[in-house]
Parts: sequence; structure tokens; C-alpha cells
Amino acid sequence: MGVRIFGTGSYIPEKVLTNFDFQNMVDTSDEWIRTRTGIVERHIAPPEMSSGDMAISAARRALAMAGLQGSDISAVIVATTTPDHVFPNTASLVQVAIGAENAFGFDLSAACSGMIYSLELAYSLLLQKKYRYVLLCGAEKLSSITNYEDRNTCVLFGDGAGAVILGRCDDDNSGQLASDLHINGDYEDILKLPAGGSRNPATHETVEQKRHTIHMQGKETFKLAVNAMAGACKAVLDESGVDVGDLKLVIPHQANKRIIEAVAHRINVRDDQLFINVDKYGNTSAASIPICLDEAFRSGRLQRGDMALMVAFGAGLTWGAQLIRV
Ligand code: COA
Repeated sequence: MGVRIFGTGSYIPEKVLTNFDFQNMVDTSDEWIRTRTGIVERHIAPPEMSSGDMAISAARRALAMAGLQGSDISAVIVATTTPDHVFPNTASLVQVAIGAENAFGFDLSAACSGMIYSLELAYSLLLQKKYRYVLLCGAEKLSSITNYEDRNTCVLFGDGAGAVILGRCDDDNSGQLASDLHINGDYEDILKLPAGGSRNPATHETVEQKRHTIHMQGKETFKLAVNAMAGACKAVLDESGVDVGDLKLVIPHQANKRIIEAVAHRINVRDDQLFINVDKYGNTSAASIPICLDEAFRSGRLQRGDMALMVAFGAGLTWGAQLIRV
């Protein structure tokens, strides 16, 4: 028995914010953003649209690709840092919208590493016979927590959602080949949303000080991200004995093209193996890897039986890699 991906889906809101749009908002330039990040544009959800709404659209597309009904799903996991509410969880909203009447579910908080963590859970759950198909969503409305007066952060983030359905299959070769997951709270201050939780509940002051938006030490984050992601990639390659040259695709979390290229360089990934779409969407946190997976399947860059390495890094710090045969 193996586990494979039966369907993927994604949802990208229509509205585009280009680098040129930012030139009218903060002291920046298209040239600076392109050369430092590789980002050209990002998509922004309209005010009335939530992360849950985007997750639902992505989930429906994944169900359609898989040829499944909501009632076939045994578990719904939504990775997000921008849930619709503190409670109920966003997974409940997805569950009811797709009619997953036989599922349990929860939200997973691991920032940009959300999909890497979710995959670990999905592969573990599917070892148990009572779970048949698991729906993973990564959904973010980062525009709702972005300070559009802070040039250090506002140019980096975008909105979107991706979904992946995994299930058991007869092919023994399909499944998780290796994984390497980490968490380390030593650096919790370098990337955080300072207010709005029980530590600093919302007050007029926290709103005025824009403490409900992303605060980040960019340079420090950059260095930690490259080291952590390269280390996790090496760990899964070592554990599995897979040669990097035999991978069909390497799908890194899409935060910054320079981070992606530095990681790729350290593990000797060829250009044709590297999946990059940060130019179109910016950093969509937990949504970035499932959006990439969906684009990779729909464009034919990833096909059943291929080996893919996914790697991510995010606030926490959280980081990790998954090496799978899809
Ligand atoms: N436009 C123009 N200048 C900007 C700018 C912008 N949008 N954002 C920052 N700058 C300025 C800084 O203020 C700094 O100016 P100073 O030297 O006068 O203080 C200067 O550019 C250089 O900043 P620096 O931090 O050296 O740039 P960098 O090469 O490290 O790139 C980031 C900045 C944010 C793009 C980069 O550090 C990064 O991508 N970090 C990781 C972010 C990330 O991935 N976070 C999520 C992880 S999941």
C-alpha cells in the first residue's frame, strides 16, 4: 500500500498589485524589489474575501481533479496564519462548504512551514485504515496583516490558497520517502505579529501602533532561512539515499528568489528542477507550496511516479522538508 496525491487545486484572487503600484505607496522602486526579492507582482483579495473563502475554492478544485466528493474526505487540515477567526477554526468552514460530513479537522499554525507540517500529519494519518482521503489546505490573506506603510515588509506578501488531497493507493512505491521537521523558539522575535493574541490583546494603542501587522528582521530571517532549508534538504536526501539529480522537482517555499537560489546552489539543484513562481505571487506563506504543487501538476511538470522535494521555513522558527513520490 502507498499514499499518493489524488488532486490539487489553488485559488488566486484577481486583483494584482505590481511593484510599480508600490512606488506610489512607499519609498521603493520596481528595480529594488525585483533585484532583492525576484517579486514582480502579487495578488490581493478583496475586503469581503477571507482565507477560508480562498481555501474553499482551492479545495473544490482539488476535489474535482481527484473525482471525489466532500463526503469522501476523512480529515480537513487548514494551514494558515490568517485564519478567518481565532475560533471556530477555518477547517470547520471548509468542511461545511465542501460537505465533508465524515471528516474531523483542525487548523495548523506553523507559518510558512504549514504545508510541510501538514504533509507529515497526512502521511501518518493515512497509515490508519479508518482514514481514506485527507484534504490539506494552505490559505492566507496576508494583506489583512500587512502594514502598507512599511516598505521593509509590504512589498513581500500576497494572498492565495492551495489544496492537496492525499489518499491510500495500491502502488507501494508512492508515498513519503523521507522528512525532516524542526521548531526552534530562540528566534521568535525576528518574525512575528506582536499583538492580537492573549499576550497583547487588541487595544486602541496596539491598533494605532500597527502591532497587528507583520514585523520582521529581514536580513536575519534571510540567513536563517537559507541555512535551515539547505540543512533540511540535505537531511532528507541523506535519509532516503536519493540522488538530487533524480528529483523531478524541488519546490521551495516562495519567499524570495535569492533565498531559493541560494538553497538550490547549496544542494546542487539544476535550474530545470527548480520550481519558482514568487515573481507572480510574492510570499503567500502556508499557501505557497500547495499553489506550486497545483501549478506543477496542471502544467505537467510533475506527474504520477515523480519524486519531489518540498522545503519551507517560517516564523517560529519552523522549518522542514518532505521528499515524496507523488
Ligand atoms: N524598497 C527600497 N528599499 C528598501 C525596501 C524597499 N521595499 N525594503 C528595505 N529597504 C532598504 C532598507 O531600509 C535598507 O536601507 P538602509 O540600508 O538605509 O537601512 C536597505 O534597503 C537594505 O536592506 P537590507 O536588509 O540590506 O536588504 P536585503 O538585501 O537583506 O533585502 C529583504 C531585504 C527583506 C528583501 C531580505 O532581507 C529578505 O528577503 N529577507 C527574508 C524575508 C522573508 O523571506 N521573510 C519570510 C520568511 S518565511
